[in-house]
This record gives sequence, C-alpha cells and structure tokens, in this order.
Amino acid sequence: MTATSSGYTRFARLSQAEFRARLPEALDIYVSAMRYPDGTAEQRAPMWLTHALREGWRCVAALDEEDTLLGLAYGYRGSVGQWWHEQVRRGLLQREGQEAASRWLGDYFELTEIHVRPDQQGAGIGEDLLRRLLDGVDNARVLLSTPEGTSRAWKLYRRVGFADVLRDYYFAGDPRAFAILGRTLPLDPPTPSN
Ligand SMILES: CC(C)(COP(=O)(O)OP(=O)(O)OC[C@H]1O[C@@H](n2cnc3c(N)ncnc32)[C@H](O)[C@@H]1OP(=O)(O)O)[C@@H](O)C(=O)NCCC(=O)NCCS
Repeated sequence: MTATSSGYTRFARLSQAEFRARLPEALDIYVSAMRYPDGTAEQRAPMWLTHALREGWRCVAALDEEDTLLGLAYGYRGSVGQWWHEQVRRGLLQREGQEAASRWLGDYFELTEIHVRPDQQGAGIGEDLLRRLLDGVDNARVLLSTPEGTSRAWKLYRRVGFADVLRDYYFAGDPRAFAILGRTLPLDPPTPSN
C-alpha cells in the first residue's frame, strides 16, 4: 500500500486484496453515506468484488490515524458489454445520437463509487479522493452517474468541472432519476480557494 499524508487523513491506493479485506468497512460507509436500507451491503458485495477485477480498476481510500476507513473512491475503464456502459449508450443514442455516444463512450474511466463517512463529510476528503483516483488515469474522459439532487456530491462534481452528459435519465429497474456527468481528463488543478 503506498500512502501520502494530507492533514490528519492519510490517502492510500488499495490493491485488490486490500479492497477485499476492507469490503465490509467500505460497504458500511456506502450504506450510511447513501442512506440505503439494511441489507444493501450484502446485495452489493458481489458486485463490488466483480468490479475490482475489471480492466483499469483502481481504488483510493481515506484513512485516519488508527487506519480506520473514512471514505473511498473506485472506478475502472468503461467498455462495451458492461451493464452501465450499455445503459448510458442507450440513453445517448436515444437523445444525442451516434456521434455523442462514440465521443463519450469511446475511451472513458467510470467513476463508479465515491463515498465519505457522514461525520467526515464537508472537510475536503471527497475532492481529495476524487483527484487522487483520477490522477494518472490514461483515459480521455471520465463519466459518472449520480441521483438527481444530491447536493453535496453535485457541488463537488461541478467544482471539478463535470458537465451534463444526460439529465433525468432512468436506468433499467431503478425508479430514481439520475444525471450522467462527464469531463475530459486530466482534471484541472485545484483553484486557489480550495
Ligand atoms: C459526495 C461526497 C463523496 C463528497 O465528499 P466530501 O468529503 O463531503 O466532499 P468535500 O468535503 O470535498 O466537499 C464538500 C464540501 O466541503 C467543502 N470543503 C472542501 N474542502 C474543504 C476544507 N478543506 N475545509 C472545509 N470545507 C471544505 C466544500 O466547499 C464543500 O462544501 P459544501 O459543504 O457546501 O458541499 C460525500 O459528501 C458523500 O459521501 N456523500 C454521500 C454519498 C454520495 O452522494 N456519494 C456520491 C454518489 S454519486
């Protein structure tokens, strides 16, 4: 595990084995940050483990002095055949056409998950996780989906330059409206106010 320090929070890239070992802790943060019902963690565990096997997968963790997880972000190279890729492709083809679908989906990194423990939010950990995760990613673009109207996540994504790709989009089997946001890589450096 390589690690750097930022104040009292340590950031570290997790290997697949480290991610597996921390999965229950990571899913606890996910469930509390997203306010999902009990049972969600057990449901998501196999999916997160499958994600970790995908090409280009990388994960960054935020840890405190006792090595407790405060937050994490992960993602991987998006590609044809992945459920999320095909869902977004369907939306782009329906609404924006072939050119937009090829441009956005030709070479991108999917920012799949980013979550910070609720009592640690609002102190810059989320932005740090996002920047560290995307640092050195060699894809041309980054894409993510987020439920419409989750204000803290929205503010973070806008602050680092994510633009609308699709709004009010419905994934198969989910009644919530989502936004797909994206931007080119690399990210711009943080503004001085950060
Ligand atoms: C979205 C999320 C990952 C962002 O993480 P975070 O650590 O709260 O994000 P940041 O601290 O970087 O930015 C959030 C706020 O802190 C402020 N901030 C940033 N750096 C700061 C610093 N050094 N000191 C004080 N405040 C700071 C930002 O201005 C921002 O202000 P806001 O409170 O008006 O939103 C986190 O809030 C979260 O887990 N939310 C619930 C789950 C979720 O929505 N995940 C994404 C689903 S797509």
